[in-house]
Formats: sequence, structure tokens, C-alpha cells
Amino acid sequence: MIFSRTRQVTDCFRLCHKFTQVRKLSTTTKLRQGRYGWHRALASHSNTGLALPTLPNVLPHRSLQTSNQSLSDVELTAVRYGVERGNYSELTDADVKFFQDMMPSRVITDEDDLAGNNRDWLRMCRGSSKLLLKPKTTEEVSKILSYCNDRNLAVVPQGGNTGLVGGSVPVFDEIIISTALMNNIISLDELSGVLTCQAGCVLENLDQYAEDRGFMMPLDLGAKGSCHIGGNVSTNAGGIRLVRYGSLHGSVLGLEAVLADGTVVDCLSPIRKDNTGYDLKQLFIGAEGTLGMVTAVSILCPRRPKSVNVAFLGCNSFDDVLATFRNAKEMLEEVLSAFEFLDNTCMMMLKNYLKMTNPLSADYPFYVLVETSGSNATHDEEKLNAFLETTMATESVVDGTVATDITKIKTIWSLRESIAEALMHDGTVYKYDVSLPTDKIYSLVEAMQTHLGDDVKNVVGYGHLADGNLHLNMTSPSHSSELLAKIEPYVYEWVSKHHGSISAEHGLGFKKRNYIHYSKSDAAVKLMLQMKKMMDPKGILNPYKTLPDSDM
Ligand code: FAD
Ligand code: MLT
Ligand code: ZN
Repeated sequence: MIFSRTRQVTDCFRLCHKFTQVRKLSTTTKLRQGRYGWHRALASHSNTGLALPTLPNVLPHRSLQTSNQSLSDVELTAVRYGVERGNYSELTDADVKFFQDMMPSRVITDEDDLAGNNRDWLRMCRGSSKLLLKPKTTEEVSKILSYCNDRNLAVVPQGGNTGLVGGSVPVFDEIIISTALMNNIISLDELSGVLTCQAGCVLENLDQYAEDRGFMMPLDLGAKGSCHIGGNVSTNAGGIRLVRYGSLHGSVLGLEAVLADGTVVDCLSPIRKDNTGYDLKQLFIGAEGTLGMVTAVSILCPRRPKSVNVAFLGCNSFDDVLATFRNAKEMLEEVLSAFEFLDNTCMMMLKNYLKMTNPLSADYPFYVLVETSGSNATHDEEKLNAFLETTMATESVVDGTVATDITKIKTIWSLRESIAEALMHDGTVYKYDVSLPTDKIYSLVEAMQTHLGDDVKNVVGYGHLADGNLHLNMTSPSHSSELLAKIEPYVYEWVSKHHGSISAEHGLGFKKRNYIHYSKSDAAVKLMLQMKKMMDPKGILNPYKTLPDSDM
């Protein structure tokens, strides 16, 4: 015990010593340019046994209250986007009575109570559902869907309602089926790390549960305090650690889903290898509730790392960001767990609207967040130090701070995780989530700045650089159809021309479905439409979402 403690302190000294050297280098180099600021956010005496940080909770509707747009301002989706209602039945008193008899007190019809469920997080879409159902079991979901299918009533599955493409809210009067009460954890196998739970478990709660047993969820995102695992699976959410743990197409081992007619498809396998027939679960991952309602999930949880370091770095150009990434891949590969970037306009918004502080001593055109996670603190720190020394020496990084202490780690992460919220204070947000060859990522932001000029308030870029995933956001004082027409399809054409994807991780939902052709071939889209027709012949499951308008 004493030995171990001594070793930790010694390691810490070595780390501090190294940083002193880097700092001197930085000071000498940068004083000439009037810029210096290499420092440790906090000297921790031990970071062994450090838990992975829990990122800040997102209260999905907090910005609704703080923004310059009031709740009632959200225009109805049908009006704003000129959509025609599908040929579905209208809800009757008899329908409501059927559900009330089936699940008393879990049938919501009050307009005010429904308001938050009718409107999306971005306040771009609003439906007018008159009914919200809160099943607790798969059997109840099955009965609900079977009834709706017979009656030709359209439905929209809803998890935490943090989706960013208008997929989680009704367009017209679809019945909202919420997973809010389907929140039981079924098991966590402490040998294999396989966690099995109902679809309505909040991601952060699952991560906490896993942490208590030495594991972690393989995905993490800013909305973790609100989003449900069923929503994550249905959007194939990416998030900040995809570079390390891969996509849900790999970590979801099994799932259970209910089809439009109420059939329960049990593919809830907890095993890793299973080559028996088609891998049906993959169909539901990223299907945004259009092929079935996910009711339970089995997911492979990695061991929680014992050592975590986060560096927040300032760069003078996007080329320097890319050079830093190249170095990170080369020097940190096996411990790299996140590599994120943001531009200075994002930083300005964080400071102005959320009163957050730039941990660096000056502003820079770009910032990079690098996280390492591993099992040996000394090893990880040595690697991180070597990486930092190289990036400083080559001047791809001109300033930085390193955190090994949990509080400081959280503070740094919260900068990155709060950008979406900060943007909401700047006005109406036009949000694009694209994949591009990594070296092209920021060229799109610049192209949009040139293309839009003064028509737009701000154009910002940030995102999961390690995955080639750019979050391009434009803001304007209020919603403008003219501006939207200038952004789209221009942005999609640009992405397609540069061999990217028009949706990297948020899905197509309501807002992007008619642009699917920019990323998928005609044959692929046709097959998707055929699959939809086969699995949901009446089209009751989340209509107007994911797939383009079609005469099929
Ligand atoms: P919802 O928003 O409720 O629904 C999303 C879609 O899934 C809808 O189409 C809905 O119909 C469908 N759905 C929901 N539950 C089910 C179910 N049980 N069965 C079938 N269909 C269902 N996304 C990322 O990928 N990466 C990020 O880093 C990221 N960060 C975010 C940060 C913030 C601050 C916010 C607000 C959002 C962020 N998102 C991110 C987007 C969003 O959080 C994710 O898409 C998330 O996975 C949605 O989960 P949810 O439970 O809120 O789903
Ligand atoms: C993020 O990475 O912050 C999320 O995907 C949300 C966003 O795109 O704004
Ligand atoms: Zn993201």
C-alpha cells in the first residue's frame, strides 16, 4: 500500500517535471508571438483508479426557456414544411377508452402535458398529437401496435426526445408511444460485460449502473442525461467515444422489437458470435422507429478504464488541427478515446451565452480535445507527454491544458458538450451533421460562410474529428424559408461531391429524408422502401420519417 502510494507520487512528479519542460519550451517559443499558456489544469497526485467522467446532464427543454423564442412560437411542422397528412384514421373517444382500459393512468391526453412531447429539442418541429401512451412492457407495446395497425392509426416511438432531425415528434396527430416507463435493467453479466435492459433506460443511468460494476457504456453523448438506449439504438447514435469503442452496429449484441402488427421479434441474444441467418437486429439499428419499436437491448460494455487524461489544446489553423490528429493517431492510438474539435466561434458562444470560461490563456482559431483512457496511468501519461512535446515542438499546438482530475476533466468536456445548447441562444439553428474525408471537414464550413455571406448570423464547425464527422451549424435571428432554401440542397451537393454522407450520426428523421439520394443509390433506396412496405404495409410506424416521399 505504502509502496503503491509512493509510486503514484513519484509518477506525478515525473509528469509535472515533464510539463515544466514543455512549458519552458512553450514560453520561449511563444513569447515572441505574444502567446503563451501551457499549463496543467490541476496537478493531481494520483489519477490511478480514476473513473471515466460522467458528462453534464442535458435538460432537453432548458434552452426552450432561455432562448429568444417562446414555446408557442414553434410553427407546426405541417405548416412550416408544407406536408400533406397521410391517409390514416383519426383518433376517436373509443380508441382512447381502449388504451385507458388497458393501461389506466398511463394514457395522457391533456394538451399542456403533451406539449413537450409534441415539440423537438431544436424547436424546429411541432406536431399536434392528442395522445401519449406510456407502456411498461413489451406485451403492452405489442397490444398497442396491434390495435393501431388494425385501426390504421399512425404512431411515433419516442425515447428521450433529444433527436436533432425531427424524427421523435409527430408531424400531424400520430400517437406518441413513449419508452419513459420501460426503464428496467434486466441483467449485467460481469464476466462478459453484456448488459441487457429495456429500451427506456436513460443512457446515463445505465452508465452509472455499469460503473458501479467496473464497466462503462460503449457510447457517450452530450444528451446522456435524457436520451434512452432505445433512442440511441434507433438513431445508431455515435457520440464522443466511437473512435475507441466503435458503432452500435458492433456493440449491440441483440435486441427485441415489436413490428407494426404487434409481432414481437426476439433477437435479444447476449452472445457475441451468431451467424445463424440474417442478422435482423441490424435492421432496427438506425431505423428511427420506422420498421419496429425497439423494446429491449443487449449491449457489450467495455471495462471502465483506470486512467483518464484530457488535454484541451489551441491551434492556429485547421491544418494544425489535422497535424495534431495525425500525431495523436501515431503516438496515442491504443489509448486514444476521443479527438474532438471546435472553432473559435463556438468558443465565443460558450463564453457569451453560457458564461463558460476558455481554460486557455488566449483565444485561438481552433481548439482540440484529446482524451486518453487506459489501464496504466504512468504509461498513458508518458505517451500523452511525448505527444504534447511533439505537437508543441512542431507548433501545430500553441497552447494547452491537461486535466487528470475528474472535476477538471468534466469542466473541459462540458465546453465541448455544451456547444449545441449555446447555439440555441444565438437564434434559429440550421443543423447539419455530415461525414467527410477528414482533411475536407472544415472546407465545408468555409464554403458555407462564403456561400451565405450576410444572410446568416453565424456559421460554426465542431465535431468528432476522429470519425470524420463535422457538425456544421448556421444561425439566424428567426426561421427563414429563404435561408433554408439557400442552404439546402447546396450543403448536400457539396457533401456528395466530396464523397461524404449527409447524415453521419443523427439520422434522417423528418428533415433530411428527402435528401437520402445524396448518400444512397437509387437501388439502395428502392430496397429500403420495399423493406418498409413488407414490414409495415400500412405505414403506421413513424410516417414522414427516414424514407423519402414515394409513390410505391
Ligand atoms: P428520441 O429523440 O426520442 O428519438 C430519436 C428517433 O428514434 C426517433 O425517430 C424516434 O421515433 C426513434 N425512437 C426512439 N425510441 C425508439 C424505440 N424504442 N424504438 C424505435 N424507435 C425509437 N447524437 C449522436 O449521435 N451523437 C452525439 O454526440 C449527440 N449529441 C447530442 C447532444 C445534445 C445536446 C443533443 C440534444 C442531442 C445529441 N445527439 C447526439 C442526438 C440525440 O441525442 C441522439 O440521436 C439520441 O440517440 C436520441 O435518443 P432519444 O432517446 O432522445 O431518442
Ligand atoms: C454533438 O456532438 O455535440 C452532438 O451531435 C450535437 C450537435 O450536433 O450539436
Ligand atoms: Zn455529435
